[in-house]
Amino acid sequence: MSETKSVIDVCIAGTGSYVPERILSNEELAAKVDTSDEWIVTRTGIKERRIAAEGQFTSHLATNAARKALEQAGLAAEDIELIIVATITPDTPTPATACHVQKALGASKAVAFDISAACSGFLYAMKISKRLISDGAFKNALIIGAEKLSSVTNWSDRSTCVLFGDGAGAAVLRRAEPGEGSIVATEMGTDGSLTHLLEIPGGGTACPITSENVNDNLQTLSMLGKEVFKHAVNRMKEAAEKVIERAGWQPEDIACVIPHQANLRIIDAIADRLAVPNERVFVNLHKYGNTSAAAVAIALDEANRTGVFKRGDKIVLVVFGAGLTWAAAAIEW
Ligand code: ACO
Repeated sequence: MSETKSVIDVCIAGTGSYVPERILSNEELAAKVDTSDEWIVTRTGIKERRIAAEGQFTSHLATNAARKALEQAGLAAEDIELIIVATITPDTPTPATACHVQKALGASKAVAFDISAACSGFLYAMKISKRLISDGAFKNALIIGAEKLSSVTNWSDRSTCVLFGDGAGAAVLRRAEPGEGSIVATEMGTDGSLTHLLEIPGGGTACPITSENVNDNLQTLSMLGKEVFKHAVNRMKEAAEKVIERAGWQPEDIACVIPHQANLRIIDAIADRLAVPNERVFVNLHKYGNTSAAAVAIALDEANRTGVFKRGDKIVLVVFGAGLTWAAAAIEW
């Protein structure tokens, strides 16, 4: 689904992120399942990931990230008109995690809801809120990617448990003033014929958790990694190319590409196919692993706060996840 020209430009006024304190290293995992630091680093690039404390829910991670984004944007929680949380690990099936975040922040004027698009959720939320702001429905929005994937990880499955981590990233979007940067182009897509490649099969109406199947790990993530890998590279390349073309940019114009943080080999393949040098591609998955909807949001915040790009720079975000889903955004900062 592509973009048509917006009436009002929308900018990112602030970003924030939060990861739990507890670090789970590859070495610790290797003591529990049949894996090694060498295998994990060579195949994925991941060195360690963060694990939320007991009693620390997705909404807590989200709220911490949101507070930092609001502070950077110079907006009070009461000023926020829309909150979207992208997550596949909500605090509760209902109400939405965004409602818990609204309460914790005291953002009493905000309309709040969740979206479920796995790793693509943050950019889906960006496109939805950009459109709602540019159409004049809201003046601003707080979008958050937040996950407690440790709660849906099968800790005895070495093919998945080494990949995932917990964390949250947030951004405040608002109408851009003249001369400010803006979200120039967005793209998102879905291929529902490939739902089986990456799923949490149990816990919904298709396969409720019962006393008979409770020990079958149906409530955890399962993935056909090789297949997902192939689609991830192709779809992310196509989505990034579309927003770059729509923005009227050349690869050499791009100061920074921020891809979904799932696998360093996927990231390298995309950089190669987009003809963007590796040093202009932001990577932090060695520290956090794959945090699904949070990953690109945490990376955006880290890149922003460490001065990887500056005002006026052209940056591209591109993501991929279960669904299968994918999305990209071209942003002039
Ligand atoms: N430690 C040691 N060996 C392992 C491990 C492990 N942790 N995991 C798998 N292996 C073994 C396998 O059993 C297999 O052994 P075999 O050859 O004897 O059968 C071998 O290593 C190779 O396994 P593959 O699955 O083929 O390994 P691959 O190189 O494909 O890497 C990985 C697996 C890392 C999962 C990769 O396929 C990948 O990153 N896929 C994409 C994931 C992704 O992008 N997800 C995005 C969305 S996530 C979301 O939406 C929540």
